[in-house]
Amino acid sequence: MKLLVVGSGGREHALAWKLAQSPRVQLVYVAPGNGGTAQDDRLRNVGITDPNTLADFVEQEQIAFTLVGPEQPLAAGIVNIFRARGLKIFGPTREAAQLESSKDFAKAFMKRHAIPTAEYETFPDVAAAHAYIDAKGAPIVIKADGLAAGKGVVVAQTLEEAHAAVDMMLSDNKLGDAGARVVIEEFLAGEEASFIVMVDGKHVLPLASSQDHKRLLDGDQGPNTGGMGAYSPAPIVTPQMHARVMREIILPTVRGMEQEGIRFTGFLYAGLMIDAQGNPKTLEFNCRMGDPETQPIMARLKGDFSKVVEAAIAGTLDTVDLEWDRRTALGVVLAAHNYPDAPRKGDFISGIPPETADAVTFHAGTTLADGKLTTSGGRVLCVVGLADSVRSAQSVAYEAINHISFDGMQYRRDIGYRAANRKHS
Ligand code: AMP
Ligand code: GLY
Repeated sequence: MKLLVVGSGGREHALAWKLAQSPRVQLVYVAPGNGGTAQDDRLRNVGITDPNTLADFVEQEQIAFTLVGPEQPLAAGIVNIFRARGLKIFGPTREAAQLESSKDFAKAFMKRHAIPTAEYETFPDVAAAHAYIDAKGAPIVIKADGLAAGKGVVVAQTLEEAHAAVDMMLSDNKLGDAGARVVIEEFLAGEEASFIVMVDGKHVLPLASSQDHKRLLDGDQGPNTGGMGAYSPAPIVTPQMHARVMREIILPTVRGMEQEGIRFTGFLYAGLMIDAQGNPKTLEFNCRMGDPETQPIMARLKGDFSKVVEAAIAGTLDTVDLEWDRRTALGVVLAAHNYPDAPRKGDFISGIPPETADAVTFHAGTTLADGKLTTSGGRVLCVVGLADSVRSAQSVAYEAINHISFDGMQYRRDIGYRAANRKHS
């Protein structure tokens, strides 16, 4: 069978790479793909992004099903369009994707269903927002309501930063419509984890736990980014924590959406903050897999992923058992010069080692032209190492990175440090 993956990042490379391992799968199209998907014989890039034109392509090529990576096409309704044309696709509808595409929707939903999250209020009005910040004090968190490609959250340590964030979003319109309303919420302290499940409308199938590193610099310093590295499993998600997150967050969300007449299908990603007492709260929902969490998760997944997605589309996820590589997978993102502000493009990339049983490099912002691989985005590559412990997985990934070079390459040297510093890691 032929399949289609929508997107162009490291997440999509990893999803397509995993799907293509199935003996049933002849070819995985990736729209639009990147330099890495262009180099793999089992994958083929398609330069189409418009959802209706993609649906035409799927009909012509008799593609068995489509898997969507990023949030933008989901929020724009690609699943609605495909379903209306009778095409199989895994992801949430535009309505269900509001869990990610509107922070206000997500927060109000969590309040209605008593799902643990930070206290908040939503403001369209600048003066009221400033007054609320003065009343609450710092630290405090300011979030643009809409999708802002990772730029919509300011964790303000001081009142000045908080007021400036409100002005940036509401007065200066720096984020456009996405910042026309802001959610202002309580600052939560603790350790983050990514909890990702597959949902078929009714049944929920949890994936392996993971944790990413959102800050640019070692020791979780510097600006927020899309994610500088991730590993799976995340030791903070113990079996007890897993059960609690399912009971208090994931299942009430899926049931709540059903009750409200918006059945959720697709990947549901709860970004958690777990406090010092071990209580999890929801920082955000994403209606897709994480990037870079997908890269280590796919590296650990065993078995035929195409069958899992097929079951998810058919509504039979209750019949699926996932099997995971017992090793830790740890992915380190190699980013371009000047990421995340204004990443430089066009740097020549060399030295990517061939895939082995314990190391694989997924591409994100790369382009292949005339046999040359160059940088074409902020996050360029994600190098994943697999080993029996977090420290050994770090060694494998960083050893592979030693071979890779491009001008301006920057990466964190400490991916996985929290897990490595725990006992038995
Ligand atoms: P979000 O896109 O909502 O996950 O926010 C991006 C990042 O900002 C999160 O991964 C956290 O590191 C941080 N963050 C978001 N909300 C809060 C909060 N209420 N308290 C502390 N940090 C937060
Ligand atoms: N790695 C965080 C995200 O995908 O949103």
